Amino acid sequence: MENQKTIWIIANWKSNKTIAEALEWISKVGPKVPKSDPPAGGLKIVVCPTFSCLSEVAKEIKVNNYPLLVGSQDLSPFGVGAYTGEESAALLNQFIKLSIVGHSERRKNFGETDEMIAKKVQQAQEFNITPLLCVQGENTSVPAGCQLIAYEPIWAIGTGNPDTPESASIVAQYLNNKHGQDLEVLYGGSVSPSNIKNFIDQQDIHGVLVGNASLDALEFVKIIEACER
Ligand code: PGA
Repeated sequence: MENQKTIWIIANWKSNKTIAEALEWISKVGPKVPKSDPPAGGLKIVVCPTFSCLSEVAKEIKVNNYPLLVGSQDLSPFGVGAYTGEESAALLNQFIKLSIVGHSERRKNFGETDEMIAKKVQQAQEFNITPLLCVQGENTSVPAGCQLIAYEPIWAIGTGNPDTPESASIVAQYLNNKHGQDLEVLYGGSVSPSNIKNFIDQQDIHGVLVGNASLDALEFVKIIEACER
């Protein structure tokens, strides 16, 4: 019995796409997403747009009944209130089921610390949003209760130079030993239609976080198709 695990394929658009571009992507990808029931070992496809497109993307997916989940790329470490510019989990949960937290681009460009990231995880959990915690290596701090982690070595992000599936699997095993076997570990960093299968074929890798290759709808459909069993 090979591979009954659920595979997560998560599109991280980063700071890209107008609403029109986002809706065009949804119209191309939505119909291609298999309608299998995720808990039965299928695919879970999540799209993480910018905040400015989030509600339109969520509406479009709902109206068309596409089996696509919506996530955000970040959320506030605070609740609702006087936090100018922030997007609180208590408000975002109108649209999203998941949020990327602690991406290395946020740690580097916005000074996010482990402490701040732990607060974001807490906020997500409090409002029924699954935090997808990005870790850059084995020693990145993992707040209590995290069930979904993306191992993303910084040198592999956006470089076309992915880690090897074997090495990613060793890191995943290490993370499972350290933080619990229930943890689902994904891989991210230069994932493409041609290498995705090698990652998800590793027993300990439960999916991928995709940046560049998620921007083009047809490329992303190829990624989905490579995973269909
Ligand atoms: P990449 O980005 O696929 O462009 O390497 C991955 C990520 O940053 O999540």
